[in-house]
Amino acid sequence: MADSFDLSAVAAALSATAFADRVQHLPSIGSTNVLALEAAQAGAPHGSVWIADEQTAGRGRGGHGWYSIPGDGLYLSVLLRPQMALADALWLSLATGLAAQSAIAAVTGIKVDIRWPNDLLIKEKKCGGILVETSTGASHSEAPAMLRYAVIGIGLNVNHQNFPDELQSAATSLRREDGRPWSRQTILIELLLALETQISLLEEELREVSNTAGLLERFTVASSWVCGKRVRVEEAGGYTGVTTGLDARGFLRVAGDDGKLHTVLSGGVRPY
Ligand code: BTN
Repeated sequence: MADSFDLSAVAAALSATAFADRVQHLPSIGSTNVLALEAAQAGAPHGSVWIADEQTAGRGRGGHGWYSIPGDGLYLSVLLRPQMALADALWLSLATGLAAQSAIAAVTGIKVDIRWPNDLLIKEKKCGGILVETSTGASHSEAPAMLRYAVIGIGLNVNHQNFPDELQSAATSLRREDGRPWSRQTILIELLLALETQISLLEEELREVSNTAGLLERFTVASSWVCGKRVRVEEAGGYTGVTTGLDARGFLRVAGDDGKLHTVLSGGVRPY
């Protein structure tokens, strides 16, 4: 029996955040990201959150689907209207990965790794993913294109005990890691609190008023994939090499076995 959500308890726990009273729950939906994009277009406010028990057409990165069996996972989308250039949108993905990692650790004690840009892994199997979809405002002359809004979709495999055959070898869940079920509501609250913290830090950093370690540095510490990992990259025809850190825009660099220094733009990074 799936655990349920008490939205007034969620609102109380989030009262100091942009998400207070803005979390909506749906038993079933095609995709919370699609719903959030439509709502954003119709003027929904910054901080709106949609969470579903089930998605019938969950979207993943790179045109893939997202397995969203009823009741076992957290499937949510967060609408943000940040003062941010489109060129900075990758930072939102990285910041969300950090938020998910710290929320999972705080609730369950499980140490999740982050594969650039934002796959959440336990022992190299995927337990969560993040899909950021953006819209830009009209751009004027030389000024950089600004984000009108960003929808951050987060899928976490929380209490899944099994996966379809085609996902068995690549997917896992928090429950499969340590055998016990977890409260989706507790993780949801911790995740949104952590997201608020990471987004505030990022906004301060972009306004250059930050006095904490930058996102680039925080991500490098949090992810074992950023430096020294032998990888294969399914991009630009495919190549292999060793990761050598993030560039100033947050893209992953790989010293290729072909002698070139590559910049990974879209993901598709696998162990090799
Ligand atoms: C990935 O491929 O790693 C990203 C998966 C993102 C899945 C989440 S589940 C909630 C939200 N709604 C969607 O349709 N997708 C995202």
